[in-house]
Amino acid sequence: MKITTSYFAESKNNGNKITMLTAYDYTTAKLIDESGIDAILVGDSLGMVMLGYDSTLPVTMEDMIHHAKAVARGAKHAFVVADMPFMSYQASVYDAVTAAGRLIKETGVQAVKLEGGKNVCPQIKAITEAQIPVMGHLGLTPQSINSFGGYKIQGVGYESAKKLIEDAFAVQEAGAFSVVFECIPAPLAEFVTMLLDIPTIGIGAGSSCNGQVLVYQDMLSMYDGVKPRFVRQFADIGSAMCTAFDDYKNAVQKGEFPEEKHTYKLDNDILRKLMTEYSPKNR
Ligand code: KIV
Repeated sequence: MKITTSYFAESKNNGNKITMLTAYDYTTAKLIDESGIDAILVGDSLGMVMLGYDSTLPVTMEDMIHHAKAVARGAKHAFVVADMPFMSYQASVYDAVTAAGRLIKETGVQAVKLEGGKNVCPQIKAITEAQIPVMGHLGLTPQSINSFGGYKIQGVGYESAKKLIEDAFAVQEAGAFSVVFECIPAPLAEFVTMLLDIPTIGIGAGSSCNGQVLVYQDMLSMYDGVKPRFVRQFADIGSAMCTAFDDYKNAVQKGEFPEEKHTYKLDNDILRKLMTEYSPKNR
């Protein structure tokens, strides 16, 4: 059974933690789906972990559509959310609804996520009214990297914490079905989670959020760019991959790979015939 937005609301009510990971391709989405994770985020973090940019800002709608399509094909059970890339929704409500519509229609994901509070509430309201579920994103919103002046924890001072609370209420009021809190103090996340009716999904926001999300390359130690302190490395797949690539290189260079069991047979009579036909003296 495919997970829906109702599952998010029920999870908040019955205290089940919502599990979410990012994915950007079919194979990873399928593995995550088979492990029973509730939701997959096709994050615009793909700009950094898949495309090698140093921020999420250069990611285009075409990038998002390309990756979201692959993820949607791999996720039979998990709820799939696609990020709205930078400048696909900020300039106008019209842009926002059009871009959200493209993501849903062309990729097969179930919801979109966009960053911001009161400033993007008209967009959240209009997208929701177009029957597209919206996940909000507050705190350290990576698309605001230039105005934040770096990847810095948010909501630490009184004014900043108050702004986050007001933004969270506004996003809920505008119709978002859930909201991501990224890199904010755990007690603030706990307090706002208690105040809100919609579920909160934390990343660097402590354990009291209603769910958690991580970038899969971070939790598998596959990405050596920005290394946030909130990441736990659940496996060292990056090192395992490097060891395997090195073993492959050595095996090929030493002629140890491929072995006989990796090869396909050719009938001896056919081979002999070909050798006769193509022997230098018969040509
Ligand atoms: O793009 C992304 O992966 C995200 C998560 C960090 C929440 O927005």
